[in-house]
Amino acid sequence: MTATSHTGAIPAERIAPADAAGRSAAASGNRAAPFITASGLRKSFQMGTTVVHALAGVDIAIEAGTFQTIMGPSGSGKSTLLYLLGGLDRPTAGRIIVGGHVVNEMDENALAAYRRRFVGFIFQSFNLIPSLSAWENVAFPMRFAGVSRRERQKRAFALLERVGLADRRDHKPTELSGGQQQRVAIARSLVNEPRLVLADEPTGNLDTASGQSIMDLLAELHRDGRTVLVVTHDPRMAAYATHRVFLLDGCIVSEEKYREVAGVI
Ligand SMILES: Nc1ncnc2c1ncn2[C@@H]1O[C@H](COP(=O)(O)OP(=O)(O)OP(=O)(O)O)[C@@H](O)[C@H]1O
Ligand SMILES: [Mg+2]
Repeated sequence: MTATSHTGAIPAERIAPADAAGRSAAASGNRAAPFITASGLRKSFQMGTTVVHALAGVDIAIEAGTFQTIMGPSGSGKSTLLYLLGGLDRPTAGRIIVGGHVVNEMDENALAAYRRRFVGFIFQSFNLIPSLSAWENVAFPMRFAGVSRRERQKRAFALLERVGLADRRDHKPTELSGGQQQRVAIARSLVNEPRLVLADEPTGNLDTASGQSIMDLLAELHRDGRTVLVVTHDPRMAAYATHRVFLLDGCIVSEEKYREVAGVI
């Protein structure tokens, strides 16, 4: 058994470590262009007189249809990496290409459209709107896409059914358990049929059983052919992942591949 120290869950087949340029084996192989490529990715924050290097030069290539976990200690840059890939923030330097789109060159409008059409976000704290019911939360992102209220409701109901919450659609977030709130957030992330699902510690606020059901749901999204990137401290997530990267001080220090990608879109 190799390279299980951080996950402990399943044996991991260690692939070639990042080369001198930080490029993974997948990136330097002769496959078609990966779904996601980031190169020379840096993000720095000026804090008074000091500069925090949240990402200090990340190179990564991610194939379509992978389920990738991103692990590493607190402050290592995991969330920053996820936000940059999802167009929630801009890099200080470097290039991000997703599905052939050069994300780092997009203006605000293009970036908003990219987030809406391409990316589903799931956060640790759910980020639901407290005054809206479950179905209204799910339907909310469609308000800006010119979808009629009737159609929004129909799609929201279908998505809530998909995440096992058909009987909770009129509940407000405070009337739902943590696991149920995260299911609503996952349903909301799917309204625009994103090819890429980005989850930042989605089970971090949940008890063991609820966390497990959220992992099962993410695995389903992956089986549907989506590319799923999950920042997590939960070693159980490794059972679902095809790949894992480990960050330290804003750099990728190891990349592992657990299994082949099936059903790539
Ligand atoms: N908006 C910001 N302004 C200043 N510094 C920031 C900002 N966002 C992140 N940082 C810093 O960048 C580094 C990486 O932060 P990041 O949130 O990506 O870490 P993380 O790996 O997600 O940690 P955690 O596991 O605690 O969520 C940290 O040192 C953090 O303090
Ligand atoms: Mg974080």
